[in-house]
Amino acid sequence: MAYQGKPIHAEWSSSFAFILAATGSAVGLGNIWKFPYIAGENGGGAFVLVYLACIAVIGIPVMMAETMLGRRSRQSPINGLASLADQENLSRRWSGLGWLGVAAGFLILSFYSVVAGWAVAYVFKMAAGTFTGMEGPAVDAVFGAMLAQWHVVLGWHTLFMVLCFLVVARGIRSGIEQAVRVLMPLLFLLLLLLVAYAYHLGDFGRGLSFMFTADFSALSGEAMLVALGHAFFTLSLGMGAIMVYGSYLPRRASIAGTTFLIAGADTLVALLSGLAIFPIVFATGLEASAGPGLLFQTLPYVFGQMPAGAFFGTLFFLLVSFAALTSGLSLLEPAVAYLVENRDWSRRKATAVLTFSIWALGLCSVFSLNLLADFYPLGFIEPLEDKTLFDLFDGLSSNIMLPLGGLLIALFAGWRMHQASSRDELAMGRGYRVWRFIVRYVSPVLIALVLAYGLGLFQAIGLL
Ligand code: PFF
Repeated sequence: MAYQGKPIHAEWSSSFAFILAATGSAVGLGNIWKFPYIAGENGGGAFVLVYLACIAVIGIPVMMAETMLGRRSRQSPINGLASLADQENLSRRWSGLGWLGVAAGFLILSFYSVVAGWAVAYVFKMAAGTFTGMEGPAVDAVFGAMLAQWHVVLGWHTLFMVLCFLVVARGIRSGIEQAVRVLMPLLFLLLLLLVAYAYHLGDFGRGLSFMFTADFSALSGEAMLVALGHAFFTLSLGMGAIMVYGSYLPRRASIAGTTFLIAGADTLVALLSGLAIFPIVFATGLEASAGPGLLFQTLPYVFGQMPAGAFFGTLFFLLVSFAALTSGLSLLEPAVAYLVENRDWSRRKATAVLTFSIWALGLCSVFSLNLLADFYPLGFIEPLEDKTLFDLFDGLSSNIMLPLGGLLIALFAGWRMHQASSRDELAMGRGYRVWRFIVRYVSPVLIALVLAYGLGLFQAIGLL
């Protein structure tokens, strides 16, 4: 018998709404900003293949586990894990996993919003034709000048947080669901337009071969772990975002089916982003290995040199902004759901308090680009000697908290939960055995490797 938890929150109106929302969560800066530049830095094709394998072997099974825990508990990750632990006769300390997720969401959104703010700023810069015909160094200077002015960065960060607030405060159906129903189709449309643009005007053949010709000699052990870590980040795993969205999933929906679609759509967007970006970068005579500056330095220059570049550049940054917004919503939701459950607060009040707190935490990232650019809080630890607050927040959440959350989710779902419960909730027939095997034996080992890497253990013993 399926567990019938007391529903506190609304449900998505259909499983399609869940697919849109979870895809919105998954598709974000990770796909359009991070994926192309880490693929560029790690040699392209071989890295892309390893990344695809990571999505299939770890991403999909852990995403199913997270959705399953959410739907079974029907509550925020913190209370949900406590009540699942009760049902399974386990320690209530498992709710700590929910707290870890909420903390990770806070940290990630605080800097994610700052980067998303740059993207929103670039929509306007592109539309104003700022970069048309501009030389490379001048384009770099525009970016540098923006970061150097703390009040400008703060303004865009504030705007992004307000947008997140406005959507999440309206609730699950009239807020998040409505937003993703409009934004996700637009996002796909924009992306296809940009790929068509790159196809017509870029060096598409070179873009394709860069992304899909695998040269395994260029692949380091480190790159494999980066690919694995990124698989987590890009699918929004390990912090309760997918769990809380799963808790609003109607009973009749298939968890395996929806997960395949979400992971597939996320991967497609990452690959298409590469195909929108690399061909035009190559056509302008630049290289793909530009690092994090690819989006805000290389691309504006490239668009500035291309026909109709201002127009397509505007569309590109709109795409990035939409993608970031739909991810931002899911970073906020686990904490909002928790406050709604535990306090006698309206959803609006809970969202306002949390948005404000995350905005305030974001000040650390804002200032670490300018006023505190030379402040290295953990400078006394050698590998962290040149890391600003912004870098530390990113590193701590992506390399440690998400993998740790994912590891605990896999252990809970694979080892601690009764087989009858997960079998009942997943209701997937034969595939269940495969899922269970992976979640018990494969995912934990691989995630533990990522975690060890994130903690610098390999580096410490001189392995990588
Ligand atoms: N998946 C998002 C991206 O690729 O940009 C980032 C993210 C969103 C991570 C939500 C974690 C999360 F809970």
